[in-house]
Amino acid sequence: MINDLLTFLDASPVNFLATRQIAERLSQAGFQHLDTREPLGDIKAGSRFYVTKNDSSIFAFQIGRKPLAEVGFKMICAHCDSPTFRIKPNAEIRCEGGIVKLNTEVYGGPIMSTWFDRPLTLAGRVILRGRNEMSPETVLIHFKEHPLLQISNLAIHFNRQVNDGVKLSKQKDMLPILGIINDKLETDGLLIKLIVEEVSKQRPVKASDILDFDLYLADATPACTFGMHNEFISSGRLDDLSMCFAGLEALLATPNETDSTKVLAIFDNEETGSQTKQGAGSPFLAHMLKRIALAQSGTEEAYYQAVERAFMISADNAHAWHPNYSEKYDPTNHPCLGGGPVIKFNAAQKYASDAVSAAIFAEICKEAEVPCQRFVNHSDVAGGSTLGNILASTIPVCGVDMGNAILAMHSCRETGSVADHEYCVKAFTQFWKK
Ligand code: CO
Repeated sequence: MINDLLTFLDASPVNFLATRQIAERLSQAGFQHLDTREPLGDIKAGSRFYVTKNDSSIFAFQIGRKPLAEVGFKMICAHCDSPTFRIKPNAEIRCEGGIVKLNTEVYGGPIMSTWFDRPLTLAGRVILRGRNEMSPETVLIHFKEHPLLQISNLAIHFNRQVNDGVKLSKQKDMLPILGIINDKLETDGLLIKLIVEEVSKQRPVKASDILDFDLYLADATPACTFGMHNEFISSGRLDDLSMCFAGLEALLATPNETDSTKVLAIFDNEETGSQTKQGAGSPFLAHMLKRIALAQSGTEEAYYQAVERAFMISADNAHAWHPNYSEKYDPTNHPCLGGGPVIKFNAAQKYASDAVSAAIFAEICKEAEVPCQRFVNHSDVAGGSTLGNILASTIPVCGVDMGNAILAMHSCRETGSVADHEYCVKAFTQFWKK
């Protein structure tokens, strides 16, 4: 099970490729890809399909035997974007000695220092000229033959205070080097040349066909397990691809025909606030659920009833207790690695959990014979936010915010637990069993 997760993480360096990975696995399992521009068609018990938005969010549905108005939706939500650096337009900067570096812009909230001195690569989507200007084509690329870039530190000899904490400039310090170009014939357009070579592996293309791209930096070192008993996972993007994958595994493990309707919703742009057409702040999922209810029953009333009966698990990683920084954690609620899924609470409702939804989720864990933990911020620490409450503002659904505990959230490489992944898949499978 863990090797499958590691393979998924390595094949998903950015949101677009994570979405494609999930789509491919759903297709292999018999889920049909529907085009949202067309009518949904015949929605009947046992129908299994998925839709995507912007190539960077994906929503899978398995229609239950009972009418939606009677059983509601059973939803698991997660996000497929992670903090990284986006390549800016006109990114190439020529420096002394022929060195070429790339101009970048921060995406989300990375721990920037963790991106230094490690082999990096590029991944994302390239937009090609299509049959007319309104229909460009998209190709996904991931440079993985060899690492392409690195953001190098300044030597300690030039900054003796480096270990006392360094203020980093996003514009000055975070630009990766791409190569050394001494050939006078090589002019601009180096990145475009690289893109042409990479796209050509999938289909013939000329530089003039490349209209634009969304490319991001990614760690080039594969995910792995470590520890005395291989009990830990080391990878970038555990937040939140580990939860996306747990949801996917649970969906694929569920019997095709059950009473309730299952929804796996993987959103983009959680790390930048969710307010995009493909983010959790968008009405896209609400529209899809309403279209399904209308296709099934012909009445809008069925949708509203289904929402009132629905339950949502908003799955996003939690903070594991760090053995070197115990003072940062709540004295009585600090989940540990390997201790099972974590329910997150916040009095200001940055998390959707309340006593009702937490009780329901804890009971699901109990039935699955999985331990369950609780997280609350240390009251003097601000903490983060997630999908649950943002989604609840467009779909007023009862839900719990939970996630597996990890260390070093938003580091280029986070640390998770092998046991927790197995627990989480079990709990999700139990949720979708009926
Ligand atoms: Co997250």
